[in-house]
Amino acid sequence: MIQPFTYYNPTKLVFGEGRIAELPRLIDPHYRILLVMGGGSIRRNGVYDAVCQALEGRSVTEFWGIESNPTVETIRKAVQLGRQEQCDFVLAVGGGSVIDASKLIIAAMCSDQDPWDIVRAGKHRGEYLPLGVVLTIPATGSEMNSGGVISCRETQEKYSFSSKHPQFSILDPRVPTSLPPYQVACGIADTFVHVMEQYMTTMRSPLLMDRMAEGVLHTLIEIAPGLTLNHKDVDLMGEFMLCATVGLNGYLSWGVDQDWSTHYIGHEVTALTGLTHGHTLAIILPATLQVMRHLGKQDKLLQYATRIWGLTPQACQGEEHAITAAIEATKQFFAKLGLSVTLRDAEVPHEVIDEVVRRFTERGTVLGEHQNMTPEIVRQILELAYE
Ligand code: NZQ
Ligand code: ZN
Repeated sequence: MIQPFTYYNPTKLVFGEGRIAELPRLIDPHYRILLVMGGGSIRRNGVYDAVCQALEGRSVTEFWGIESNPTVETIRKAVQLGRQEQCDFVLAVGGGSVIDASKLIIAAMCSDQDPWDIVRAGKHRGEYLPLGVVLTIPATGSEMNSGGVISCRETQEKYSFSSKHPQFSILDPRVPTSLPPYQVACGIADTFVHVMEQYMTTMRSPLLMDRMAEGVLHTLIEIAPGLTLNHKDVDLMGEFMLCATVGLNGYLSWGVDQDWSTHYIGHEVTALTGLTHGHTLAIILPATLQVMRHLGKQDKLLQYATRIWGLTPQACQGEEHAITAAIEATKQFFAKLGLSVTLRDAEVPHEVIDEVVRRFTERGTVLGEHQNMTPEIVRQILELAYE
C-alpha cells in the first residue's frame, strides 16, 4: 500500500540558455535585492555580468564570500548587511552552498534568533523573505527544494534544516560548463546518491517511484562518460541539470521510505575534514550497501543489480554474486568519474572514524529506514570505506 503523503512545490523552473536576462520579469521592481554570491567563479564565467545587466536600475546590495559548505559565521555577516540595507528579496547566484546560505538568510532576516539556533531547531516557524536562484552547479537539487545544510566553523558541525522553496530558479545549461571537472564529478556523484537514498529501501513502494528513480540513474549512467570526457557539452550539461533537479525536488519521494544514512555519515566526514560533499558520498555509498545488504536491503539490491546494471542472478551464478557485482559496478562508476573511492586515498585521517562514531553515540543517532543502523554499524561502514 502506498503511504499517505502531501506534496507541494511552488518553485518556477526557468530552463534554457540566456534566460538570466529574464530576471526583471521574475522579480517585482519594488524589491530591494540582496545578491548573495560565492567566491568569485561567476566573475570569471560571465554570470555576474549577465545578472548585473539584467538588474540594471534595480536596488541591489552585493554580498560575496559564501564558501563551499557554507558557515553560519559568514551567514551572520550577510544577515547584518541585508538588514542594514533594508533588503526584502534575496537572489542567490551560485551552487548548493550559496542557495543553502540564502535559505538561512531569508529566515534569519525575519527573526530575532541567531542563525545557528534556527539551524539547530531544524525549522524556522516565522516569516521568510522571498528567494530567487540563478543556479551555477547542478548537484544538490537545492534550486527546487526547501532544505539547506549549514556548517559551523567553530564547532566543526554540519546540519540540515528546513526553509522555504525558491520562488524561481534559472537553469542555464551553459553556465555549469565553466566548472572544474572535479566539481562536475562530485555533482554527478551527489545526484546519484540522492536518488539511491530514496530508492534503496522498501520493495514495491510505490512502483512508479522505483521506475522514475531508475530513469534518473540510467540517465546519469548514460551521460556520465560523455560529461567526463567533455564537460563543455551544453546538451549533456542540460541533461545533467534535469537529473540533479529531479533527484532532490521531491518527485522521487511520493509515499517512499527513505534512508539518508550515507548523507548523515558524509556530512560528518565533510564537517571534520572539508572533503567535498559529493566525493564523501561516492566513497561511503558502496560501503553502506555492502554492510546493509544483509540488514534489510537484499531484495532491493537485487532489483538494483538487475534493472540498473543488467546483473541478473542467472547471469551472475546466484543472487549474492549479482549483488556483489552491482556494488562493485557502483564503485567503478564513481572511480570512472575520476574520484578516489576510499577514505584513505582521499587522505581522510583514520581518527575521523572514531570521532564520527563518538558523535553519533553521544547524540543517540540511529539511521536507516528500519532504524537499525547503530553507531557500531556506522563504524563498520567507515572502516570498509577506508580500505
Ligand atoms: O564559490 P565559487 O567561486 O562560486 O566556486 C564554487 C565552489 O568553489 C564553484 N562553482 C560553482 N559554480 C561554478 C563554479 N566554478 C566554476 N563555474 C561554475 N559555474 O564550485 C564550488 C562548489 O560549489 P558549491 O555550491 O559548494 O557546490 P554544491 O552545489 O555541490 O553545494 C554543496 C553544498 O550543498 C549541500 C552540501 O552539503 C554542501 O554544503 N547540500 C545541499 C542540499 C540541499 N540543499 O538540498 C542537499 C545536498 O545533499 C547537499 O547536502
Ligand atoms: Zn547530497
